[in-house]
Amino acid sequence: QYKAIILVGGPSRATRFRPLSLDVPKPLFPVAGAPIISHHLNALSKVKGLQEVLIIGFFEDNVFSRFLDDAASEFPHLHIRYLREYQSLGTAGGIYHFRDEILRGNPQQFFVLHVDIACPFPLNEMMDAHMKHRGLCTMLGTKVTREQATKYGCLVANVDTNEVLHYVEKPETFISDLISCGVYLFDTAVFEEMKKAIDRKKDANHEESDYLWTASDDRLRLEQDLLRPLSENRKLYVYVTERPWRQIKTAGSAIAANATYLEQLAIENPERLVKKSADGPEIIGAVYIHPSAQVDPSAKIGPNVSIGPRVHIGKGVRIKDAIILDSVHIGTASCILHSVIGWNSKIGSWARVEGTPIADHNIAMMENGVKSQSITILGKEVSVLDETIIRNCIVLPHKELKSSFHSEILM
Ligand code: GDD
Ligand code: GTP
Repeated sequence: QYKAIILVGGPSRATRFRPLSLDVPKPLFPVAGAPIISHHLNALSKVKGLQEVLIIGFFEDNVFSRFLDDAASEFPHLHIRYLREYQSLGTAGGIYHFRDEILRGNPQQFFVLHVDIACPFPLNEMMDAHMKHRGLCTMLGTKVTREQATKYGCLVANVDTNEVLHYVEKPETFISDLISCGVYLFDTAVFEEMKKAIDRKKDANHEESDYLWTASDDRLRLEQDLLRPLSENRKLYVYVTERPWRQIKTAGSAIAANATYLEQLAIENPERLVKKSADGPEIIGAVYIHPSAQVDPSAKIGPNVSIGPRVHIGKGVRIKDAIILDSVHIGTASCILHSVIGWNSKIGSWARVEGTPIADHNIAMMENGVKSQSITILGKEVSVLDETIIRNCIVLPHKELKSSFHSEILM
């Protein structure tokens, strides 16, 4: 018997996902035609013996209620619940706080998945790997470039046994190009280690501050407070994946996540993608179009495009590497490249909205006061006039753009 936890954070987070997170909590933002968190549930639904999923975060309860209703009908074999932390408890604090819920029914192991990642979730492979060692945790690892590595939890592992010898959260200098993906399989015995971690923190606080109880005492960090001591005690193992893996932090990184899942759908569930047809629009590569969207047959769409409900796409439009959200209108012969177009936005005719493809979508939106992210993002209800060009811009909701703009944040 297995369980799973999805860590979703709360409303004070996801600042880098603005302006898109102004209108929808990041876990519910759609990529490849489904909310980010649905892709996690889809992978969990394929794990044998897994019946219960606990979504843990500090969003208000009602944020997920509609989604949970939809998920109950889409994944009838999973029992999915939302458990709310009374405040941000850290990446392990909520897990510890709700330990009775997790332990109910005596599961032997449980998965923990960060919500802000996109990958094929090789969960069954992780279970097989977990059975082959005596550790308390198997974590998913992947290799990234040297420049990117220090933004993640970095690990050094024994290449023969996969034992993690050394774990450092976001090190200041390079230690390894093998990083933690934010997916773990734990034995339930790990709760004893969490208890020890809490006691260590209490002791440390006790000495420092003459025992003043502070809110931060409840925060337990999975990485520094738990994984690091686990690796020091040789109880942490890694399963390394070579399949695609993306972190979703900035709004622009949604484009890479969209591509990851569309390409996966093309292999595993091609029926979910739009089929090419003689009288339909020209489709290139993996494209998702919601059944209620209207796309003119002379449009050319793809690869890596998701088009949401009630979208209207006019004659001769070209769209590539983009997410078009609900009820957007795009006029005749306009061109949308490397962009996210927010809900209800209106793009006129012969307009261009474009970003620039970049390898790392997670670089900060601003660097030294200059806009650096190069996916163009239009917030909700933006309008772009005919024949204008919007290039490498972030546009906040409700803006009306009457002329062309280039590399700006438009508030
Ligand atoms: N429930 C809850 N409560 N969830 C939280 C909290 C909290 O207080 N704080 C963060 N989370 C959730 C986030 O929503 C996200 O899904 C996950 O925990 C990790 O978020 P961060 O704490 O922002 O860490 P990070 O993403 O910068 O780095 C972590 O993930 C990387 C992989 O994406 C670390 O674990 C790294 O080591 C790892 O490489
Ligand atoms: P691929 O066929 O995708 O490999 O690239 P391509 O450059 O050969 O053709 P594509 O259909 O992608 O379009 C070429 C370029 O035409 C795009 O990159 C746009 O910059 C430009 N373009 C500008 N406005 C329009 C428009 O209204 N319709 C189309 N189809 N293209 C436009």
